[in-house]
Amino acid sequence: MQSVSVLGAGALGLLYASHWAKAGVKVELLLRADQISRFAQGIGCQDQPRLAVTLRSLDAPGAPISHLLLATKATQAASALTPWLVHLSDDAQLLMIQNGLGSQQQVAALLKPTQTLLAASVTEGAYRSPADPALVVHAGRGETRLGVWSGAQAISGVETWVGSLQQAGLSASAVTDILPVLWEKLLINDLINPLTAWHQVPNGELLRRDLETQWLALLDELGPLLPWLPLSAPAKGWPARIREVLTATAANQSSMWQDRLAGRPTEVDFIILPLLEAAQQRGLSLPRHQALWQAIRQGEWPPPAD
Ligand SMILES: NC(=O)c1ccc[n+]([C@@H]2O[C@H](COP(=O)([O-])OP(=O)(O)OC[C@H]3O[C@@H](n4cnc5c(N)ncnc54)[C@H](OP(=O)(O)O)[C@@H]3O)[C@@H](O)[C@H]2O)c1
Repeated sequence: MQSVSVLGAGALGLLYASHWAKAGVKVELLLRADQISRFAQGIGCQDQPRLAVTLRSLDAPGAPISHLLLATKATQAASALTPWLVHLSDDAQLLMIQNGLGSQQQVAALLKPTQTLLAASVTEGAYRSPADPALVVHAGRGETRLGVWSGAQAISGVETWVGSLQQAGLSASAVTDILPVLWEKLLINDLINPLTAWHQVPNGELLRRDLETQWLALLDELGPLLPWLPLSAPAKGWPARIREVLTATAANQSSMWQDRLAGRPTEVDFIILPLLEAAQQRGLSLPRHQALWQAIRQGEWPPPAD
């Protein structure tokens, strides 16, 4: 891949863009007019030299977009992409890296049958530098696992992206069926993110006995639904898998907690809602999930603890 356009120059968008730029890939950031000045001095990973990339706004001329990384939040993906659709080539390949499920379906519905949508599950940890939003802090190394969501390209299209990410120094692999991978990540996010945001604690605090009972109750509630979801149980079982993730990410501030702190909309509609919808289709009810989803989407957070 010789060139790539990045829409959503936030934490992950900048992480990928700066790795590609450093590896010699031609990178253009697709920006709203109000964002252009933010990147005038270049982009980069914190503590590394800044890299110059092309800054493109909607009204500026540019070549048809053939490879696009869509790196906004799930809540913004379809609306951010819509004005750029006319600039996509007929055989464009798009890669989405959003957490949860739902935004992929929204974006797939916008594309032509000749265009391809790839989706990824990402375990990299990154955040925008508080001192300079053109810089990203790579807080934890992880992996990008990607596969075809919809469209014209077969797995060969995925290999192009995987090769490009690997050459840029990131860990990436292709999967033949991305849906179970996204469901597994969704389930982990479902059990961790809402509770960390609710209690305003880093991930590792959910290993505390009093908080562990809360995510175990959520997991218990999902029991009758799990066999219907397109994912297989981890070898050691879900509780052990969740404890493993909590231990490995103990100091992390979940994205939902960060969104709460910043007063931004959370991705709860893409994490809890797909489970509520899947349960409803099977005639099952998830009262704990329903209450948590409703409270969070309405911003009804509990008052901070003393
Ligand atoms: N960060 C991580 O470590 C991580 C790890 C795994 C998965 N993820 C997932 O990756 C996705 C992105 O997360 P993130 O942390 O990178 O979010 P983020 O830092 O908020 O980045 C999103 C970016 O999209 C931009 N954007 C929104 N609407 C736009 C538009 N219409 N035109 C142009 N740019 C637009 C935002 O710009 P403005 O702020 O200027 O609006 C922001 O820079 C989420 O689904 C998240 O759950 C993140």
